[in-house]
This record gives sequence, structure tokens and C-alpha cells, in this order.
Amino acid sequence: MKNKHIERFYRGVKLTRAAGAATDVVDPPVTYTQVFYKEYPRFPSVELPDVTPCGEFDTLLEGRHSERSFADIPVSLDELSRILFTCRIVDRVRDPEKRTYPSAGARFPIEIYPIVFNVDGLERGAYHYDMPRHRLEILLEQDLRDRETEIVSPYLSNTAAALVLTAVLARSEVKYGNKAYPYSLIEAGHIGQNIQLACAKYDIGCCPIGGFVNDAVSEILDLTEDEIPLYVFGTGKSKLDDDEATRDSG
Ligand SMILES: Cc1cc2nc3c(=O)[nH]c(=O)nc-3n(C[C@H](O)[C@H](O)[C@H](O)COP(=O)(O)O)c2cc1C
Repeated sequence: MKNKHIERFYRGVKLTRAAGAATDVVDPPVTYTQVFYKEYPRFPSVELPDVTPCGEFDTLLEGRHSERSFADIPVSLDELSRILFTCRIVDRVRDPEKRTYPSAGARFPIEIYPIVFNVDGLERGAYHYDMPRHRLEILLEQDLRDRETEIVSPYLSNTAAALVLTAVLARSEVKYGNKAYPYSLIEAGHIGQNIQLACAKYDIGCCPIGGFVNDAVSEILDLTEDEIPLYVFGTGKSKLDDDEATRDSG
């Protein structure tokens, strides 16, 4: 990696084929293993007005959840297209351009690569999302199902498409140096929320994945050393729907 300072962070957090994070897991104080909220009981507080969830936005937020075991039926090309379309350029003329997600300094370091296992109308393989033209560039036509555990962790099954978010760090690094790495992670999180809400809307199962094997994903996508995989979203048809469909047809 040319970016030696960023390589230092990356080397410390990569998941390797030997399975296990490169970082040492420390034993945190016991309260951190059991408590997920912070409170300031010794300070006064202000009650907030009650809010009743209403409308599609609240429904989608509440519908978001992680799903890991998908039905063995394909996602349609139309569904994949809709999910990807939540990560789009809204105004190309504005300077800097406006997208559906924010980017530190509008440097837009994140790229999206669908890895297709079971999508109607698409060959199995690896693709790159050409965002400006809303189309897929074919990188590799190959059945990658035997690499599924490296791409979406061993906890998912029957993944129809994995959406890999990578960072071309130098785009952000020219402006922010070391901060390129955390800023890219944050941007990937924003994009990830769009993907998850789209899945909630179109009734597609989805699971965010940090437990992919970094070098395996880099190799499959043939990434240069300046581009690193950050975050993966495993998607597929919800098993619940499959069971319901079976019940309905029975
Ligand atoms: C950064 C990040 C990485 C994650 N990595 C994995 C993963 O590798 N494997 C997995 O099964 N779930 C993964 N998850 C999903 C979490 O386990 C899940 O969000 C959490 O259990 C809460 O469940 P919910 O999403 O259904 O609310 C990840 C979530 C986040 C935010």
C-alpha cells in the first residue's frame, strides 16, 4: 500500500483467512459487556415531547433488521437495481455534486461492487456499480458460491447478492491525510443505512457484514492496494416470505 500511514491502521483491523481479527481483544470492564446505554442520573433532565411513529419513514426505520438465512430463490434484477439506486447522484450540476449520502469534503471515496450469487437476469460473478450511468460493469463471470463464507461470513446462507463497499482512500487522503480512513468508514455507514432501508422497503433480507476476509474480497475484486474493502451487505429473499409462500401455495 502506497499510503503507509493508512496501511498501519488497516493492517491492525483486517480479518484474515486464519479467521480472527488482527487486533488483540482486551477484556473491558464488566459494565461495558452488559450495559448499552449511558445515563447521567445525578444531573437534571428535560422531558421531550412524545412522538408517535407515523408514515413510511418510521415504518422503514422500525422494519430495518439483520437477516442471515435467506430463501433459495433469486432476487430480481429490478430489486437489485432499486437497492443500488438509493446510492445515487441527485444533482450532478451542483458543485460539488449532490448524492443521496454525505461525503467528507465531497471526495466520495466509496465504490460499490455487487457480487452476484443468485440474481434473476444476471450471470453469477463480480460487478462494479457505475453510479453515474446506473449500470453494472462486469468484472468477473464466475460462480463464487464457494467463496460465500469469505465474502459474507460463515453466518449467512443463500446470499443472493453481496454489496461490497470499498474505499479509494487517496481520493479523500489528498484532502484529509490520515482522516481519510475514518471518514471513509463513516461514509460507508451512511450508504449502508440507505441500503438497509431500501431492503426494508422492498422486502429484501439484508445483513451488514464486518466479518468478511479482507484479502479474499480484494483478490476477487482485483483491487489495487490503494483501495480497501470496508463493509459488505449480504442480501437475499427473506425466508419468512418463502415459508409464507409455501404455506399459501399449500
Ligand atoms: C459494523 C457492523 C458489522 C457487522 N458485522 C456482522 C457480521 O460480520 N456478521 C453478522 O452476522 N452480522 C454482522 N452485523 C450485524 C449485527 O450483528 C446486527 O446489526 C446486530 O446484531 C443488531 O441486530 P439488528 O441489525 O437486527 O438490529 C454487523 C453490524 C455492523 C453495524
